[in-house]
Amino acid sequence: MKVLITGTAGFIGSHVAAKLLDRGDHVIGIDNLNDYYDVNLKKARLARLSDRANYTHVYADLADRAAIEAAFATHKPQRVVNLAAQAGVRYAAKNPHVYVSSNVTGFLHILEGCRHHGVEHLVFASTSSVYGANTAMPFSEHESTEHPLTLYAASKKANEQMAHSYAHLYGIPCTGLRFFTVYGPWGRPDMALFLFTKAMLAGEPIKVFNHGKHKRSFTYVDDIAEGVVRTLDVVPDKSAAWNGNDPDPASSGVAPYRIYNIGNEQPVQLLRYIEVLEQCLGCKAKMEMLPLQAGDVPDTEADVSALVEAVGYRPQVSVEAGVANFVNWYREYYG
Ligand SMILES: NC(=O)c1ccc[n+]([C@@H]2O[C@H](COP(=O)([O-])OP(=O)(O)OC[C@H]3O[C@@H](n4cnc5c(N)ncnc54)[C@H](O)[C@@H]3O)[C@@H](O)[C@H]2O)c1
Repeated sequence: MKVLITGTAGFIGSHVAAKLLDRGDHVIGIDNLNDYYDVNLKKARLARLSDRANYTHVYADLADRAAIEAAFATHKPQRVVNLAAQAGVRYAAKNPHVYVSSNVTGFLHILEGCRHHGVEHLVFASTSSVYGANTAMPFSEHESTEHPLTLYAASKKANEQMAHSYAHLYGIPCTGLRFFTVYGPWGRPDMALFLFTKAMLAGEPIKVFNHGKHKRSFTYVDDIAEGVVRTLDVVPDKSAAWNGNDPDPASSGVAPYRIYNIGNEQPVQLLRYIEVLEQCLGCKAKMEMLPLQAGDVPDTEADVSALVEAVGYRPQVSVEAGVANFVNWYREYYG
């Protein structure tokens, strides 16, 4: 299969691309290697893919309409996975416009490419952040997500709605996956596990927001990659059971469209996550206790029953195993 994946120099994209290459698919990767974080880390992830005969890279910005049109016209992908995005919730205070250019305008260009080139299935990254102010746990896709707390979450919510409209108008099968806090080898330097590891190895204090009390469905990156690949293989259809008088937000009677959570079902408290990291690193963290940051949700917990039913897979790696793998990778990569 010819699969176009955006964000292949990124954390999750590089893992998903590797999995598809391993099973023999041809992967066309798009990534502009922007400098939101260490570009050398992105180059190193990409180097592992570029070595492979069935990988082709296109250096382009999703917001560049002509470049994305050309990528679709040249490579004619059968299926598409959209993972490129401006991630992170706090960076929007500094650079709000990039969330719209990459996540909204860029996503429109992907939808247009799918429309004009008869793409069989578009799988795209959404986020648990769309649950925003919701407090009923675990988070279910069948609940409303009308109260995002950040521009990042709002842009991902917009993706879900744009995908539904294109699925309806042009019959493009679309599946949105709401990822819950992803961690693991080749992880993102702006995320807690990476920041904590770097600081602890340097003997510096770590910032522990909400006094470490919040819980997260920390999800190991291989679990995410496996879920994305399996989802790509299950092309959605319109749902016969859907009822417009009582509309289920996670499916549709008027479009081939689905939304699934993908996250570990066992939420772990931040303090426990830090304790596991201390054990793996063999040193104690100096913790600077701080209140919850604006825009952060207190807890996340994933209900993945719909994903399990659709693709027969549930994330299963424990934080004990996953954090150990991250630390091994970090020590090796940074010497
Ligand atoms: N990591 C998580 O915990 C998490 C949680 C929920 C959702 N997500 C979503 O999963 C996806 C992948 O996240 P990640 O953690 O791998 O992030 P990442 O930043 O490591 O990867 C994104 C990649 O996309 C590229 N990119 C960004 N904007 C681009 C643009 N305009 N044009 C071309 N390339 C561009 C970046 O250079 C980067 O390599 C994102 O859509 C993110 O919002 C991630």
